[in-house]
Formats: sequence, structure tokens, C-alpha cells
Amino acid sequence: MTTTALITGANKGIGFETARQLATRGMTVLLGARDPVRGADAERALRADGLDTRFVQLDVTDEKSIAAAAALIADGFGSLDVLVNNAGIAGAFGGQPSQTSLEEVRTILETNVLGAIAVTNAVLPLLLRAPAARIVNVSSEVGSVTFMSDRSSPVWGMPASVSYPASKSMLNMVTAMYAKELAGTAVKVNAANPGYCATDLNGHNGFRSAAQGAEVSVHLATLPDGGPTGTLWGYRWGDADDSYGELPW
Ligand SMILES: NC(=O)c1ccc[n+]([C@@H]2O[C@H](COP(=O)([O-])OP(=O)(O)OC[C@H]3O[C@@H](n4cnc5c(N)ncnc54)[C@H](OP(=O)(O)O)[C@@H]3O)[C@@H](O)[C@H]2O)c1
Repeated sequence: MTTTALITGANKGIGFETARQLATRGMTVLLGARDPVRGADAERALRADGLDTRFVQLDVTDEKSIAAAAALIADGFGSLDVLVNNAGIAGAFGGQPSQTSLEEVRTILETNVLGAIAVTNAVLPLLLRAPAARIVNVSSEVGSVTFMSDRSSPVWGMPASVSYPASKSMLNMVTAMYAKELAGTAVKVNAANPGYCATDLNGHNGFRSAAQGAEVSVHLATLPDGGPTGTLWGYRWGDADDSYGELPW
């Protein structure tokens, strides 16, 4: 039986590497990308490595694009095993909260939060048709209020900023609430913390690779039946061994 995964923002960075790793495990991976040229390039690159990947046009801020992608998956596959809500933007991370424009906050919430909700709702009927679907919301440790307000945490040194961190805090709550709604089903919903990875999002300043970040999404996308739901899980920056594990909300 084909196991199918949809990843938003899969044309580069952590999403692209998540696609590579899930396809390497034998999944058919639908590469969500808003730009047809970038999406087709990503498909070509992964297919050249013998991986079953297919570009699907998907702008998470465009309801028509989301509906068309969901219809295409319904027609082609009838169900969906994995959804990775990975698409995200950072905006002017580092802009002081008092200097942040509402326009920037709205723009970031539109992609990072509303986009994830819209895509999830559009494909949820397909996820519920799969035997044991997994939803992964790609969040961040900077969305952890506990971590960000702890003076002993490594992220304390990051500049105060509101739009991106608050969007990930909201995505964390979105994760917890979907997990609650779906608690009586086989669907597991978790938030991923990839850690600080070198991608276009941060001008390649991260100290982890996109492939390492993708390992977190892959772990949550392939959880066994007894695995957790409703958690923020991933890279634990500041642990003695910088290990993987659950993080505080
Ligand atoms: N890098 C890190 O250190 C880090 C840490 C924690 C969490 N994250 C999260 O990891 C996720 C992936 O980020 P990344 O670091 O891999 O960044 P990236 O390389 O900039 O990739 C972001 C992806 O999201 C896509 N995207 C943006 N807006 C979109 C929209 N409206 N519709 C569809 N796709 C859209 C981009 O497409 P285009 O190419 O068309 O722009 C791109 O494919 C994000 O949610 C980010 O917040 C990253």
C-alpha cells in the first residue's frame, strides 16, 4: 500500500530535506511549493536520486490553491498518511516588539499559523481515511514561552522580537488543540523543534544543517501507534548533550 506524505514549503530548506528523508523511507512524497518553477526543480532533484516525489502547487495563504491541492490528493490517492505543516516565514526577526508593525505580525501569522490551520482542515478528511495518520507542525523553541523567558536558556541571548516567536507559540497551541480534538482517533499531532538550522530563513546562520532539522519532523511523522500526541518535541539546545526530547510549551 502506498504511504503518502504532504509537506508544505518543500522546495528548499528543512522541508526539502524532510521530503528526501520520508521518500527515502519509501513514502510517496507530495512536495507542496507555492512557486511552480521551484516546486518542479525540487521534484526533479529528488527524482534524480530515485525518490518518488511529486510537486503539488500549494500556497498556504491561498484558499483556492489549498482546495485544489486537497482535491488533487483526494483524486490521486484517496487518503493521506502524513501532513507536515512546514512552510514558514520569519520576517524581521530581531525587530523589537515596540517597533513591530501590525502589518508584519499579520503577514507572519497568515503563513505560519493560519496557513497551517487551513491546510490541516482541507486535508483532515483524507488523514482520517488513513490507518494512522501523523500531523507535524514545524514550530520552534522560540515559540516556547517557558524557554524564551528563562534567563538560563540559550535562547535568552536572542533579541526580543514578537512576530515570529508569537506565531510559533500560537502554532504550539494549535497543535495542542488539534491533538485534543483528535485524541479519540488514530491521528497523532505534534509540534517539531528542528533547532537552529542554516537555511534561507536565517541567512544560513544556524549551527545545524537542514537535514538535521528534518530528522525531527521525520521522527514525528513516523511515530509508532504508542507514540505521543500533543507535544513539542525536538532539539533541546542547552541540554548537556544537546539531545532530542520533549520541550516545555
Ligand atoms: N531554520 C531554522 O533555524 C528553523 C528553526 C525552527 C523552526 N524553523 C521552521 O522550519 C520551517 C522551514 O523553514 P526553513 O528554515 O527551511 O526556511 P526556508 O529555507 O526559508 O524554507 C521555507 C519554505 O516555506 C515556503 N513558504 C513560505 N511561505 C509560503 C507560502 N505562503 N506557501 C507555501 N510555502 C511557503 C518557502 O517557499 P519559497 O521558496 O517559495 O519562499 C520555503 O519552501 C519554518 O516553519 C520555520 O519557521 C526553522
